[in-house]
Amino acid sequence: MPPRSILAGCGGYLPERIVTNDELSRTIDTSDEWIRERTGIRQRHFAAAHETTAFMGTAAAAAALADAGAHAADVDAIILATSTPDQAFPASALRVQAALGVTRGFGFDLSAACAGFIYALSVADGMIRAGQVRGVLVIGSEVYSRILNWQDRGTCVLFGDGAGAVFLRASTGVDDDRRGVLSTHIHAQGTLGDILYVDGAVGQPDKPGHLVMHGREVFRHAVTRLAEAVDEALAANGLGHADIDWLVPHQANSRIINAMGKKLGLPPERVVVTVDRHANTSAASVPLALAEARADGRIKSGDLVVLEALGGGLTWGSALVRL
Ligand code: UT7
Repeated sequence: MPPRSILAGCGGYLPERIVTNDELSRTIDTSDEWIRERTGIRQRHFAAAHETTAFMGTAAAAAALADAGAHAADVDAIILATSTPDQAFPASALRVQAALGVTRGFGFDLSAACAGFIYALSVADGMIRAGQVRGVLVIGSEVYSRILNWQDRGTCVLFGDGAGAVFLRASTGVDDDRRGVLSTHIHAQGTLGDILYVDGAVGQPDKPGHLVMHGREVFRHAVTRLAEAVDEALAANGLGHADIDWLVPHQANSRIINAMGKKLGLPPERVVVTVDRHANTSAASVPLALAEARADGRIKSGDLVVLEALGGGLTWGSALVRL
């Protein structure tokens, strides 16, 4: 039987600086009331100059390795999902590799916006199942505070910075064969690229780029696509809503998260929510939420967890994991 990917450890990192809605409303035409009512966000973390994607990714990855009881020598590959890399190249994944003292294997960055972690998990799982690697760090790390348009109150209040990571290892004969990543399902629709994008890049003259979003349209797609992706994951495994122990969703808006929880018939206490404290940390949001719920003991070994996310591209996907 081919190996499975066991989710052996989780870790997260948040910048020290916390910025409340009230603090934002001192310089932006907004209010704590509007932000909380429309999104559920109360505060977010913003990175200091030294807290780059690679720096935060390294901290989250080190925590995931420690949680797994694993070491740098166990890492064959590092896949880092980000839209805000430190540099065009080398990949931020390789800055992490160097910082962790990993001296072999390979690594690369993956660009799929807020769905990046689900995409990276899918790629890592495929490589483990194929026997190409045995230990993979899958990281989501973002500094969206560097690409926000502070003149656009419809987007600049929604995002925060942070990193989350998991360490996946190939199963061995002694592992319970129900554990691990059961399946991943990733999708994209490039024709919807203009509803959520960054209007520049390193390759564009004088245009580093700012985030642009048509929020209502993204909201509409999020509610339908994410529900489809979760049902697709359950159907692929012959499982139903009643089998789910935990939903760990992308943290963009508490209204989307609540709608998903209801569709799945899950009580609120079975849905992991961090958007109130982290805001939307894009590719970092799912692994950060997972790390928090593992660390505080809510998600236990043996629990069936659904992960889902949707982002610019449009990209979206889901994963079913038994811890
Ligand atoms: O992570 C990637 C995936 N992203 C998402 O899933 C985000 C999906 N979209 C959303 O979460 C919501 O669409 C938003 C939170 C972005 C916006 O909520 P909305 O209920 O769709 O509001 P809206 O953009 O339609 O704006 C409603 C009103 C407007 O005023 P008028 O035209 O009705 O007078 C805006 O000008 O709210 C106003 N507004 C604000 N007011 C105070 C927009 N931003 C703000 C603000 N503070 N920050």
